[in-house]
Amino acid sequence: MGRMDGKVALITGAASGIGAACALRIAQEGGQIAGLDVQEISDGDWGEAVALAGDAPFKKVDVRDGDGVRSAIAEIEWRLGRIDVLVNSAGVAGGGAIHMISEDDWDRVIDVNLRGTWLVSRTVITGMLERESGNIINIASVEGIEGFEGGSAYNASKGAVITLTKNMAIDFGRKGIRVNAVCPGFIRTPLLAGTFELEGLEEVRDRIVDATQLGRLGQPVEIANAVLFLASDEASFVTGHAMVVDGGYTAGHRFGVSKMMGLE
Ligand SMILES: NC(=O)c1ccc[n+]([C@@H]2O[C@H](COP(=O)([O-])OP(=O)(O)OC[C@H]3O[C@@H](n4cnc5c(N)ncnc54)[C@H](O)[C@@H]3O)[C@@H](O)[C@H]2O)c1
Repeated sequence: MGRMDGKVALITGAASGIGAACALRIAQEGGQIAGLDVQEISDGDWGEAVALAGDAPFKKVDVRDGDGVRSAIAEIEWRLGRIDVLVNSAGVAGGGAIHMISEDDWDRVIDVNLRGTWLVSRTVITGMLERESGNIINIASVEGIEGFEGGSAYNASKGAVITLTKNMAIDFGRKGIRVNAVCPGFIRTPLLAGTFELEGLEEVRDRIVDATQLGRLGQPVEIANAVLFLASDEASFVTGHAMVVDGGYTAGHRFGVSKMMGLE
């Protein structure tokens, strides 16, 4: 028996990275899946998930587009009957100190990461409210909990997603709907690779790995496993929680004492 047997999950950002890994883990546990993304893809984790799940609708849609989101979700609900679990994983990186970031870039990051989370959740919640049952998981970030140099728009968007998650948990708790966030640390995905490809950022990557207490980047499946827990009935008393999955990045700092103690 799978942990997601009988459940229908919609994953945004399903074509890549964490979203695709979530789709695969949910399908491996017997769940039906549907995906939304601006880019189309048929291989990798998403392709493997589709091969397991069978009928897995995929809609090419921008999460910032309210009408597009509405019609895509209507079609998915028509095909699969309902949506029990929503994973909001569509997201973009971007930032710079506040005087360096353009208005367009500020809007792009806030709109995809925050407005997109709201728009998709708003559309899916209607059916969940009717059935008085549902489960939403927003992929936030450790950068929504603490600052990061040059983070600005990205950190602001993820901090807002965490607060939105808590508000949704309050608003819908009595309606049988759980809402949680997962806050990944630094995870090996195309989004992170794109950031580290920027000139001069290779050394930053090494310092981030050093600041991660487990001494490595995370894998998408390690985030998907946390999402799977929250999406499953094993987390039946968990709502309004922002779960950090970061290899110890936010645990604290090492200043050389570990080395003195022979622990490095
Ligand atoms: N990789 C990390 O280190 C990391 C850390 C913390 C949080 N996150 C968050 O995890 C989520 C997934 O990121 P990832 O690392 O898997 O990145 P990714 O780039 O591999 O995947 C993101 C997906 O979102 C899609 N997307 C982007 N804009 C969209 C839009 N407007 N509408 C629909 N789809 C859109 C992309 O096409 C892509 O397929 C994001 O919200 C990201 O902020 C990632």
